[in-house]
Amino acid sequence: MQQIPNDPRHLEALLDFYAGAGVDCFLQDNPVDWVALTREHAAQRAQAAPQAAGHSQPQQPRHQTPANNFQGQTAAPVPAAPIAAPVGTAPPASAGQAPVLPDREIIAAARDLAASAPTLDELRKCLSSFEGCNLKLTAKKLVFADGNPGAKLMFVGEAPGRDEDLQGLPFVGRSGQLLDRMLAAIGLDRSSAYIANVVPWRPPGNRTPTPQETEICKPFILRQIELVNPDVLVFLGAASAKTLLGVQDGIRKMRGRWMTYPCKGRDISAIATYHPAYLLRSPLEKRLSWRDFLAIKQKLGEKTPD
Ligand code: URA
Repeated sequence: MQQIPNDPRHLEALLDFYAGAGVDCFLQDNPVDWVALTREHAAQRAQAAPQAAGHSQPQQPRHQTPANNFQGQTAAPVPAAPIAAPVGTAPPASAGQAPVLPDREIIAAARDLAASAPTLDELRKCLSSFEGCNLKLTAKKLVFADGNPGAKLMFVGEAPGRDEDLQGLPFVGRSGQLLDRMLAAIGLDRSSAYIANVVPWRPPGNRTPTPQETEICKPFILRQIELVNPDVLVFLGAASAKTLLGVQDGIRKMRGRWMTYPCKGRDISAIATYHPAYLLRSPLEKRLSWRDFLAIKQKLGEKTPD
């Protein structure tokens, strides 16, 4: 059997190789009841901020299945710590009996946690303490959002890449620079837009997020959209549109068509356009994106008559 190197540089190189090869979760010795801890956290949060202006009360957990009923269900990748711990507290060494946690319970915990956030700042804190997504283990930073939380225009991409992971901000690499130029072309910049991703952690090696990772992160972006409450929502690429609108069409068919995104009892105007990374590879398609951006500008004008 091969010896594990004990030189720190070799270990670092080995870990780097594992991360690049997509090894993005590890097992821990003691089982932890993440769902119970997450609910506890959501309840604490609800108690701490019950009166937050203009926001509904945190939802009750939808079901109260005891954690030790999970035996025998399909195992999800095992996170390294409880799903969420109150910010600034260390996770308990061993808090429960749950041997494995099925994806659907992690998703339910993510929903409860996201719903408990009355503001964007709280939502960011919730995500920072959320340990239910294995992508967090390999990402360097949480990539929550950039731009103006009060903007009428919101963009949603798929997941951060390397530059975003290093800076902790969405769309700051080459595709982000193209997005900035496209915004400038319709007289806007990041102060008039809010930018986020469906998945807030970089998948190792820039691979596509798995359906499980996407579903686990989805409640947070849904809540983020609710809290920003934009007039116009733009999906950058098919992935975010498919995830958030539930549509199955490819981007060629979908782009440039106005759709509606139901949110808090109203319909937000939504449109999908090509992902800037695709435009970097296929510059001829920029003419279609230009049309989409003109349509976005026009729609914003209709929403805010002067
Ligand atoms: N691609 C995305 O979908 N999001 C980013 O933040 C960067 C690149």
